[in-house]
Amino acid sequence: MLAIIGGSGLTQLAYLNVTHREVVRTPYGEPSSILSFGRIGCRDVVFITRHGHGHTIPPHLVNYRANIWALAKAAKADGVVSVASVGGIRGDLKPGVVVVPHQIIDYTWGRQATYEDGGDGQVGHVDFTEPYDGKLRQGLLHAAGNVGEPVVDGAVYATTQGPRLETAAEINRIERDGGDIVGMTGMPEAGLAREIGLPYAAVCVVANWCAGRHDSANGIRFDTIEAGLQDSLARVRRIIEHFCEE
Ligand code: HPA
Repeated sequence: MLAIIGGSGLTQLAYLNVTHREVVRTPYGEPSSILSFGRIGCRDVVFITRHGHGHTIPPHLVNYRANIWALAKAAKADGVVSVASVGGIRGDLKPGVVVVPHQIIDYTWGRQATYEDGGDGQVGHVDFTEPYDGKLRQGLLHAAGNVGEPVVDGAVYATTQGPRLETAAEINRIERDGGDIVGMTGMPEAGLAREIGLPYAAVCVVANWCAGRHDSANGIRFDTIEAGLQDSLARVRRIIEHFCEE
C-alpha cells in the first residue's frame, strides 16, 4: 500500500479509482481528511489531503502526527510520497520545475513534532542523516525519466513556520545555510514518518521565486502562484501514476 499526501492544489487524484473511504481516529486526534483507498495501476494506494478538503488547515495547524499515524498504522502503508509546493532559491529551481529533494533543514517551531513524548517510559532517538527514503526517491526519479517528465534530482528543503511568507533577509539566511527550496510542511512530516518507520519521499513543485528574488523582489502574490501550479501538478500526477505502474 502506497500512501500519497496531497498538498496545495492536489486535493484529489483524478486517476485514483476510489474503492472506499474511511474516517480514521488516532491516538493523536483527527487526521486532516478522510482516507481515500483505491488502485493506481497494480498498486493499492491510500490518499490524504494535508490541508483538508477545501484547503482549510494552515501549515502550522496540520495534525502531522495524526496524518502519519493514520497512514502507517490504520492504512498499513509501506511507503509515502508527499506532494508539496515550494518557493525556489537555487537558480535552476524556477517556477514550474518539479524537484525530488534529498535533504531537509527545519526552521519550524511550536508544532507537535514527535511521537517520542516519553509516555512509554523511554525516549528514542531515530537516525535522520538521510531524511528521505533512497529507494522511493530513485523510484520516483526513474518513473519521471520513463514517462519523459523532467525532474531535478536533489535539493535541500528548508521548512519555515508560515503561514506568512519569508522576508528577503530570511531567504538570504536560508540560502547561506544551504537551503535550495522553501516550504512550510516538510517538517515535522518527514521526521514523524521516520520515527514510525514509514519510508518517505517528496515531490515538490516550485510555485514561485522566493522573497526578494527575481520577479518576487516586489512581493509575492499567493493567488497567482496557485493558479500557475496546475500545469506542474498535472506532471506530478503523471509521475506518480507511472511510479505506481512500474
Ligand atoms: N515560501 C514558503 N513556502 C512556500 C513558498 C515560499 O516562497 N511557496 C510555496 N510554498
